[in-house]
Amino acid sequence: MSQDQNKLRSAEWFGRTDRDGFIYRSWVKNRGVPHDQFDGRPVIGICNTFSELTPCNSHFRTLAEHVKQGVLDAGGFPLEFPVMSLGETMLRPTAMLFRNLASMDVEESIRANPIDGVVLLFGCDKTTPALLMGAASCDVPAIGVSGGPMLSGKWRGQDIGSGTGVWQMSEEVRAGRMPLEDFFEAESCMHRSHGHCMTMGTASTMASMVEALGMGLPGNAAIPAVDGRRNIIARLAGRRIVDMVRENLTMSRILTREAFENAIMALAAIGGSTNAVIHLLAIAGRIGVRLDLEDFDRVGSRLPCLVNLQPSGKYLMEDFYYAGGLPAALCELGEAGVLHKNALTVNGRTIWENNRDAPCHNREVIFPYARPFKPAAGIIVLKGNLAPDGAVVKPSAATPSLLKHRGRAVVFEDIDDFHRRIDDERLDVDETCVMVLKNCGPKGYPGMAEAGNMPLPPKVLRKGVTDMVRISDARMSGTAYGTVVLHASPEAAAGGPLALVRNGDFIELDAEERRLHLEVADAELARRRADWKGPPQHLARGYNKLYVDHVMQANRGADLDFLVGGSGSAVPRDNH
Ligand code: FES
Repeated sequence: MSQDQNKLRSAEWFGRTDRDGFIYRSWVKNRGVPHDQFDGRPVIGICNTFSELTPCNSHFRTLAEHVKQGVLDAGGFPLEFPVMSLGETMLRPTAMLFRNLASMDVEESIRANPIDGVVLLFGCDKTTPALLMGAASCDVPAIGVSGGPMLSGKWRGQDIGSGTGVWQMSEEVRAGRMPLEDFFEAESCMHRSHGHCMTMGTASTMASMVEALGMGLPGNAAIPAVDGRRNIIARLAGRRIVDMVRENLTMSRILTREAFENAIMALAAIGGSTNAVIHLLAIAGRIGVRLDLEDFDRVGSRLPCLVNLQPSGKYLMEDFYYAGGLPAALCELGEAGVLHKNALTVNGRTIWENNRDAPCHNREVIFPYARPFKPAAGIIVLKGNLAPDGAVVKPSAATPSLLKHRGRAVVFEDIDDFHRRIDDERLDVDETCVMVLKNCGPKGYPGMAEAGNMPLPPKVLRKGVTDMVRISDARMSGTAYGTVVLHASPEAAAGGPLALVRNGDFIELDAEERRLHLEVADAELARRRADWKGPPQHLARGYNKLYVDHVMQANRGADLDFLVGGSGSAVPRDNH
């Protein structure tokens, strides 16, 4: 047995001379692994979210092979393992319902196995936070490798972006301006390679958060999935994690309060997804960093958006990578003095050491801080009697004139009610109204679906109107856009004030004043509350029950209450 083996977790399995050591080693050797391959070497788990049910992660077998090679290069012993994978496009009622379940899979898989450090392979939206949350609860050395975005969509001579193009085209179809044949043709033109959505949607945002948090190597966010350099970064991560184990560079040394603030700053600079708010809150909760919803407004809302990417702008992730990627944006933030430059990253260097010399090759895609793409564009946190615990709006993807608006509420009691009535020409609605959708929050949907960017009524679309104020307790896709107030907390299904809104009430949104106000007297609200009955529970068994009983509200990251914090990486007792 080698000298340093006792310092490793895996030595509790492989570094023993007793009966159990025999068992732990013998059932590895059966695969043809020589003794010296794992004796005393850091054992590196490769946490793989490959699944044919997760199209965005379909290339992860190849990616894992490159990680493995890197681990072997550096003298570690790689062991790949699968965890629950979450495919945004397939999973119903919403992938978000299962984020916390997948995180439990990750946490328990790491803790229960002879893993000294872990490489996290994630791509599609929820796979990234699920893996970070699970690993954070173990607090082992970990490094994230994103799968990378798809190549740009190409259709009839123009670029079309994942999600964003779908929302735009489907509204054109509903307005009668786009034939269905064109709509169908675009399907195979939009998504034409391996990788995740290539807009600055939630997957690209979370890949950027991985890099800004210091949990990924520089350049992690934007390298296209099919670019050879994506495999190189996977291989480099495999090499690096072995040293991280030797240095005992655990997640809690990287995921500090400063790291989360850097992520919030980066979120503003990239015009990133509102979903990142919920995920960062949940990750912070796991690693024991105090982070509040209000921090997103305080740290990020006054910062400019530097990146001209859909849905806030024009370009796509491929363009972002060629322009310099996230390092160029972080360099702009650092030079403007708004980054915590000393935050440590997985490569052992600070975020500023990694990014201070990053060049920008295209100022149409990444704007300078002094001449930003959009000023003061970070997430705004609204408060008021309609959302006492907060709601969010993303100004970079909103219509500026609608960010201060007063309108008559048109209320949908749930998503089924919405689908039933939105196309009805008799619906009493015009573009000055405020559309309100209830019961789409964590408990209500359940899982807090991406239903907040409600399609507009056809009679409004036909006038050429493309945006209205919409308010809900739902999330929206990171690829979506509009003046959409999301994550109203507490949600309607938990008895939040959203549940009490009625058709004809007036609502005032004032983003500058951070105000979301329902113009109904307190006494009337109290009367309505006395009459309120919660919605029926959808499924009262299994994980659904566990989730609905324990999920926290959006302002607390929608994690399960008993998962906050971590159990560390202590080795459990032997299995015999
Ligand atoms: Fe997977 Fe968009 S569907 S990232």
